[in-house]
This record gives sequence, structure tokens and C-alpha cells, in this order.
Amino acid sequence: MEPEDLDRDPMLQLGEWLEAARAAGEPMPEAMCVATSSRDGEPSARYVLLRGRDQGVVFFTDYGSAKAKDLEDNPRAAAVLRWQLPVHRQVRLSGTVAKTTAEESDRYWSTRPAASRRSAVASYQSTVIESRHDLEAAVAALDDIVPARPERWGGYRILPSTFEFWEEGADRLHDRLRYRREPDGWRVDRLSP
Ligand SMILES: Cc1cc2nc3c(=O)[nH]c(=O)nc-3n(C[C@H](O)[C@H](O)[C@H](O)COP(=O)(O)O)c2cc1C
Repeated sequence: MEPEDLDRDPMLQLGEWLEAARAAGEPMPEAMCVATSSRDGEPSARYVLLRGRDQGVVFFTDYGSAKAKDLEDNPRAAAVLRWQLPVHRQVRLSGTVAKTTAEESDRYWSTRPAASRRSAVASYQSTVIESRHDLEAAVAALDDIVPARPERWGGYRILPSTFEFWEEGADRLHDRLRYRREPDGWRVDRLSP
């Protein structure tokens, strides 16, 4: 893999690899592990679904969740995606994080099935609950309502300042090409595997 093989725009390159993985039959290619850290530097990571790509990568969640508290205190994140198909690849990125607009969150919320919306409304993500039964009762209490988006549910956009495209090579001599945002564009460096 040479820099010329990749798009000059790393966001477009991420899209190419993501769609190649999907076309090759990778299950859940948009699964993305997002790492945040708390005010006192405690890291944590979890998978989310990559739901949008523009100047950043977008995911949706509960603004009351543990990750959201981290992002309030320290609005920076790192993320990684990994696919086995069509070849073994990994993309890492990191940057600052901003909430999506209410309109963007509404637009995505409107694509969610009613049952998923009820689950999101009934679940105050990352809080301790007594039992699974309580959670199901909270969903059942919503009956057949198709709820509007609660304010505490919405999106985040990671605005990457770095990317790294990794592809498996023979004998563990992998390719790693790192992009760093500079004032006049992206600088690409090859890193030792
Ligand atoms: C493949 C996969 C995709 C997930 N997608 C999301 C998602 O898009 N949004 C979300 O809030 N949680 C998602 N989750 C659940 C999170 O991993 C996590 O349990 C939840 O967001 C709470 O994380 P937190 O306590 O660190 O905030 C997903 C889990 C898996 C395994």
C-alpha cells in the first residue's frame, strides 16, 4: 500500500474502505470503538455505530451516558474500526468532538423504528437499574406511543485531526499510513508496523 493508493482526503478513504468491507460481506462494518477519557484522565472505550460521514464521523447516543459525561469534561475522542473483509484493515482516527445539531438528531431519530425509540426513551443509559423487569415495564408503560426525540438523546461528531490506515502485510510487515491535518491540507507519513 502506497500513499498514491489512498485518497488525499482521509474521510473519503474511510468511506471507500467501509463500503468495500460492506460489499465483501463484513458483518456490521460500521461498528466503531470510541475511546473517551474523564476529567481525571481515566480512559474508557465502547462500540457505537458510525451513522454519518461528512467533515467528521457521527454517532448517536444518550447525552446522559458515561461517554457523554466524559465528552462534556474533555471533548476529545479516539475511534477505531476494523474489518476482516475484503482484506484485514484497521482505521484509527482522533480529534475534537461536538454535538450534532438538534435538527440532525431529529432527522436520524425519525429513521428509527418506533420500538427502538421507545427503548431509548425508557433507558437512561449508563445508570444503575434494579432489574431487567423494571426496564421492560418502563418500555411497556409507553404502550404504542411513537415518542418524539427526548432532548437527552442525540448525536456527536468527531472532527478528526489524525487518521491512520492500516492494512495487514505478509509476515506481519503491515502497512501503516498516517494522516495529520496541517494548515494547508493533510500530511501523510508511513509508520513502522
Ligand atoms: C456493535 C455495537 C454497537 C453499538 N452502538 C451503539 C450506539 O450507536 N450508540 C450507543 O449509545 N450505544 C451503542 N452500543 C452500546 C455501547 O457499546 C455502550 O454499551 C453504551 O453506549 C453505553 O456506553 P457508556 O456507558 O460508556 O456511555 C453499541 C454496542 C455494540 C456492541
